[in-house]
Amino acid sequence: MAVDSSAWKDLTRLATRVVGQPLSTWLQDDGRFATFSHDAPGLLLDLSKQRLDDEALAALMALARARDLPAAITALFAGAIVNPTEQRPALHTQLRAPADASTRARDVHDTLDRIENLAEDVRSGSWRGATGKPIKHIVHIGIGGSHLGPELAVRALAAEHGGLQIRFVANVDPAELEAGLAGLDAERTLFIIASKSFSTLETLENANAARSWFVERSESPAAIAKHFVAVSSNVAAAEAFGIAAENVFPMWDWVGGRYSLWSAVGLPIVLAIGFGGFKEFLAGAHAMDEHFRNADLEVNVPVLLALAGIWNYNFLGVSNHAILPYSRRLSLLPDYLQQLEMESNGKSVNVDGDGLDVHTAPILWGGVGTNGQHAFHQLLHQGTRSYTADFIMVGSSASDRHRWLLANGLAQSQAMMAGSEDEDPHRAVAGGHATTTILLEKLDPFSLGSLLSLYEHKVYCQGVIWNINSFDQFGVELGKRLALPIYEQLGGKSAINQDVSTRGLIARLRKGASDV
Ligand code: F6P
Repeated sequence: MAVDSSAWKDLTRLATRVVGQPLSTWLQDDGRFATFSHDAPGLLLDLSKQRLDDEALAALMALARARDLPAAITALFAGAIVNPTEQRPALHTQLRAPADASTRARDVHDTLDRIENLAEDVRSGSWRGATGKPIKHIVHIGIGGSHLGPELAVRALAAEHGGLQIRFVANVDPAELEAGLAGLDAERTLFIIASKSFSTLETLENANAARSWFVERSESPAAIAKHFVAVSSNVAAAEAFGIAAENVFPMWDWVGGRYSLWSAVGLPIVLAIGFGGFKEFLAGAHAMDEHFRNADLEVNVPVLLALAGIWNYNFLGVSNHAILPYSRRLSLLPDYLQQLEMESNGKSVNVDGDGLDVHTAPILWGGVGTNGQHAFHQLLHQGTRSYTADFIMVGSSASDRHRWLLANGLAQSQAMMAGSEDEDPHRAVAGGHATTTILLEKLDPFSLGSLLSLYEHKVYCQGVIWNINSFDQFGVELGKRLALPIYEQLGGKSAINQDVSTRGLIARLRKGASDV
């Protein structure tokens, strides 16, 4: 990406024109909602509160074409190497595509059949633990992409988990596993160990501790075969851990961890809502894939969402983006999107390794409405920082109480857009903050699948515009490397080679250990 390309220069020029124009005057155009809102499978995207006009949109489309976005979309679906640093395609869309004659599709659908069988056996009670009792509790152990999507979907879709109690354990903090195991009956518990690499510290620590907990309570170590299953691309490591070969479900290196909830990593979702529901979830994502693949750029919802972001972050100076779901069931969406966006596009070199001359992904954060209104929205209305936000709202105004939720969501985006004048500066609200609203007709597996696929493709489009690799994440490795010697030094080894702050903190923490 070069800031001296003509598309970039046009947008820079247009931005100086729109900055400072009151957003509310743009909203006086009666045709604006019709122009800037778009239907896609299961949802509506409304960009009419964005600081966008026809000219800016046309210039953004020119940028997308200058960056060959249509060819990049084709390349993604065709299995081209879109992850060049790891020489891999990114074929998460294959996980939700109908079967075809390819080996890859056969592997995907064989695995779907296997998780269907397992889930049906567990849900119906025909899967028996080692002592002959049916399963009541599921403990899913995994972190990052092996955790966030499944927990989001289970919370969003399963009012009851088909009679199963499903818990998630991600953090290496021992308190997390302790809470995950509290009150469970080992004879009726099934553990899912989800780790693409089967080498992630947190997951292995928790899995080992869970296995010890289980072995202490069971008559024979062979019982593990009836109480532990795994999802991993490292089948050998999962088997070495003690999991029976027939209970290891594959992942593939052509699916990134944060794009894996559509694979067997989604097993908790299948257990929670049944295989029929999971198929609907895949169908929703696939419907969005087809829209993304086939719709013209001008009406292509992931492309539009991506370009609105590019406009804000690269031309209008916004550096943070809030995700505000007005649905308690979507309360984990900000966490999930944090990994999707920040791990994918938190990059500062292009695909060739050259330093970028433009900003990439914003800092993404958020929280569920209406709770946030009574906490951080004060800063959004009267603070000094610029930001953008996505409001995600569900359903219709049919019920009185739900109507309050919707009214508050709409009121907040209106307040952010228009503000309110007041003679008293302490009470004035400046407004002028651009937001996007996404409406889901209902929160069902189909629409959730479509929503998550929308965001996946948005992230990809932005990566293409910035000319970065959205599918690697080498930045996370440094901290992992540094933690190992510190762990040993906290346990008593000399910390002489550490910086003075870390050395001081290690000494203080060791003092705490020796006082215990
Ligand atoms: O450390 C980051 C990361 O590799 C993520 O990309 C991934 O989703 C997570 O850790 C968990 O990895 P795994 O599934 O291999 O345990």
